[in-house]
Amino acid sequence: MLRPIKLANNKFLSCLDISTEELVHILELAKNLKNRNLNIEYKNKVLGLIFDKSSTRTRVSFQVAMSRLGGTTIDLNPTTSQIGRGEPIKDTARVLSRYCDLIAIRTFNHSDLEEYAKWSTKPVINALTDLEHPCQSLADFLTIKEEFHDFRNVVLTFIGDGNNVAHSLILCGALLGIEVRIACPDKYLPNPSVIQKAREIYKNDSLLKITHDPYTAVNGANVLYTDVWSSMGEENQKDEKDKDFAGFSIDSHLLKKANKDAIVLHCLPAYRNKEITNEVIDCENSRIFEQAENRLHVQQALLSCLLS
Ligand code: CP
Repeated sequence: MLRPIKLANNKFLSCLDISTEELVHILELAKNLKNRNLNIEYKNKVLGLIFDKSSTRTRVSFQVAMSRLGGTTIDLNPTTSQIGRGEPIKDTARVLSRYCDLIAIRTFNHSDLEEYAKWSTKPVINALTDLEHPCQSLADFLTIKEEFHDFRNVVLTFIGDGNNVAHSLILCGALLGIEVRIACPDKYLPNPSVIQKAREIYKNDSLLKITHDPYTAVNGANVLYTDVWSSMGEENQKDEKDKDFAGFSIDSHLLKKANKDAIVLHCLPAYRNKEITNEVIDCENSRIFEQAENRLHVQQALLSCLLS
């Protein structure tokens, strides 16, 4: 019977903290949890949530996932705890890991997350940093698996900013050996170190493609993915980015150039009629709300493995 496995790294800061086998196992667990074929209990376990930025999906899906496991969450709001007053991370992490069994953190600098993980004696989970959004990627690849059943022949095209979401897609894509194409303006390329790490993992170097032409990128693609052009904290760059990303919207014209069976993903929240049109978000190819639901199932699977 399928059961949670102990993850070798006992943390999830990056997609690279898990192996291909662990990733496949988490997705399989998530699928079974979603179908209610599996009952996993971690009664009385406590997940601490430290969110320096707003969240709907990540926060609520973690809360519901812990509740389904029989555990609970504590919302450690930085503005009402001593985190907001600037207590050093190494002190906060050592104290919280005496109360909580796991800690999920959404913050700006990835290095702060790494500092938490360094001092915490309990598993730390990346709930989004400037570098990666690995929990999002788990949900993305579960959604793709549900649609295409296996990852062979999947071509995933991400159109937009080479941001944290793109980074995690690239790294998970490399672990799964699927073709990932990134279409972005020259100023907004993914982080070179992420590209280099992915290329080291890919057995076939040509499976990761970076282009500035969305139309070339969607030709033959069966997954079209986008995210907001200006992430949280980049509000002052909004006007400039809106100009720079002209021509990078997923609209029905671009969708028609992809495979007939192509699905459309967006991690949400979206700016409708900017990076994606209203029509495409709600069209029959869209799996955006299944993708949002899958945050819950993959995080329940991830928590089960980290608690096992
Ligand atoms: N996709 C995502 O992380 O959504 P939230 O910001 O609402 O958590």
